[in-house]
Amino acid sequence: MDRIRIVGGNKLNGVIPISGAKNAALPLMIASLLTDDTLTLENVPHLADVEQLIRILGNHGVDISVNGRRERQGESYARTIHFTCRNIVDTTAPYELVSKMRASFWVIGPLLAREGKARVSLPGGCAIGTRPVDLFIEGLQALSANIEIDGGYVNATAPEGGLVGARYTFPKVSVGATHVLMMAATLANGTTVLGNAAREPEVVDLANCLNAMGAKITGQGTPTITIEGVRSLSGARHRVLPDRIETGTYAMAVAMTGGDVILEDTNMALLDTALEAIRRAGAEITETNSGIRVVRNGAGIKPVDIVTDPFPGFPTDLQAQFMGLMTKANGTSHITETIFENRFMHVQELARLGAKISLSGQTAKIEGVSRLKGAPVMATDLRASVSLVIAGLAAEGETMVSRVYHLDRGFERLEEKLTRCGAHVERVSD
Ligand code: UD1
Repeated sequence: MDRIRIVGGNKLNGVIPISGAKNAALPLMIASLLTDDTLTLENVPHLADVEQLIRILGNHGVDISVNGRRERQGESYARTIHFTCRNIVDTTAPYELVSKMRASFWVIGPLLAREGKARVSLPGGCAIGTRPVDLFIEGLQALSANIEIDGGYVNATAPEGGLVGARYTFPKVSVGATHVLMMAATLANGTTVLGNAAREPEVVDLANCLNAMGAKITGQGTPTITIEGVRSLSGARHRVLPDRIETGTYAMAVAMTGGDVILEDTNMALLDTALEAIRRAGAEITETNSGIRVVRNGAGIKPVDIVTDPFPGFPTDLQAQFMGLMTKANGTSHITETIFENRFMHVQELARLGAKISLSGQTAKIEGVSRLKGAPVMATDLRASVSLVIAGLAAEGETMVSRVYHLDRGFERLEEKLTRCGAHVERVSD
């Protein structure tokens, strides 16, 4: 199993190209199930989760051709992928596939909308607390679906004539459930109004792509999304938006080590709140023609308190990384996680590097230390694993991160991107 070996202490200087967003690519790929025409997605990142979803979609009958052309020689593996689902050949998403990645549960929306039925295994994914699917079920029921849960599977059927548009207000903001209901409603009879919808940029990206396919969606990016059902959708060509989590992660890495890095092909509007927190921690962040410049010189890292929240709040997917940064702050900070109840698994691993963190309910108190010391650590989930990389970059000596398959789910060529900026990071295969 691969491990990542980091020798800390180097500043980061250079350019890091930001990949297409994993969390946008996944729902966009799933949207290909809604049409018998070809959906072409550009800027698709090369990640384990994307490969897994390609297998899952293939199982449903999606014909997939990958154009492996590198968009920028030697720098990015961003790919253009064509998805064509002439016929859905299987409306079952089996446990063996869905248990590996939670987002694959989302096929339930398009399958139900296009075929009138879906049998989808209850999901798996990162172990960051119980992640129920009640909102998906309630929402699809509001569109008149009949749903039964049996033997670990969700069996959903649409009424004769298809799903029926309705007004549904989410009791809690959910990115996944917003994606699914929006996709399902595109082909429903009549109009659907989703209240308390997620406002994440990935939701907007999916809505824009669906509109390019002929859907009639308005209000994306606000809490109220209106979807006027259409009879069918066509193909389209769409470019996946930049990965704001990858952007924020590298910005925090630079804030941690010091240095001067341009994050290319991304933009500040995707992560205002997170960038503001990094600024308060002592980094200078400015917009450039090609992306974002992050600089930290001289002064140390200042302690900053954050609370995770749905967009436009501080993203839960950057919480672990920010904690990594705060371990070396000149003072005490507090991080409160409000989205997932068990997303602090990185705490004990950061402690192995010398971090001083105590937990009280959903809040972590981080007492900054002046030095971290390299140690063997274990990646526990996708975002937690990269917080260990951030800490390792500033730790003295060697940090060896095991279980890096977590990292490979969401960070494209991380070791290469960091090495090019002067870090000492390498993949070790045993
Ligand atoms: C997506 C992102 C994930 C990010 C999360 C929150 C992808 C592939 N994943 O996950 O990286 O951490 O948004 O920004 O895009 N909930 C329920 N019932 C449901 C659905 C969700 O109670 O039916 C709860 C969850 O347990 C959690 C909260 O709602 O507490 C938010 O979850 P949700 O936004 O659905 O997260 P995901 O879409 O799974």
